[in-house]
Amino acid sequence: MKVIVCQDYAEMSVKAARIIAGQIISKPDGILGLATGSTPEGAYKELIRLYENGLIDFSEIKTYNLDEYYPIKPDNDQSYRYFMDQHLFNHVNIKKENVHIPSGEMKNPAVECKEYDEMVEKDGGIDLQLLGIGQNGHIGFNEPGESLYYETHLTDLTENTIQANSRFFASIDEVPKQAITMGLGTIMKAKKILLLASGKNKHEAIAHLLGDRIDPQVPATLLKVHPDVIILCDKAAYEG
Ligand code: F6R
Repeated sequence: MKVIVCQDYAEMSVKAARIIAGQIISKPDGILGLATGSTPEGAYKELIRLYENGLIDFSEIKTYNLDEYYPIKPDNDQSYRYFMDQHLFNHVNIKKENVHIPSGEMKNPAVECKEYDEMVEKDGGIDLQLLGIGQNGHIGFNEPGESLYYETHLTDLTENTIQANSRFFASIDEVPKQAITMGLGTIMKAKKILLLASGKNKHEAIAHLLGDRIDPQVPATLLKVHPDVIILCDKAAYEG
């Protein structure tokens, strides 16, 4: 794992966008795995700026998002579909048919999750997977547990995650209790992984990730065995 520590959120976001832009330039028809949440917002903003300046082209890029609340309608302003449209897709020349986000309205999650993994495989696998990290060490919505899921699946959110994400909702009762998420196998099959972390509240998770144990109670620690991971964080997340 390569660790890059930035001064602050702004520097981290610009560096993240440069890495993603480099991937787009080196493989214009590549596959990006994308994340939502507060952390990548700055990187998406910078990617839009690079696009507007004619430096990157999304016309042949395909994307697969990590996760989506369940159940949730795509036009709900807290859905990850809505987030991605607002923060990236509506502002760049990506083709609608090249965007994939797990549906928050799946009728048969077991079957449709399997189809999601099959689509990723069929497209040739993810070239660069962008990740945030939960305060509890989750990646995607792979929550701490005694064992971890390999494939895309429907999962219960932990109290910690519901609490952390309630900041986006009018009240904690409105936070969905479940989500569809790529499993750790799906994430680990990405050729490259870029994990972003910003702020003191991510320090504990980052400290575990940089420690010497792989612990299912901190799912991100599984990344230690991936051959090509960059952890891009700010000083607050690194030093606490
Ligand atoms: C979102 C996702 C989550 C977030 C994590 C951190 O697609 O997969 O794992 O990356 O919950 O969220 P923020 O960035 O809001 O702190």
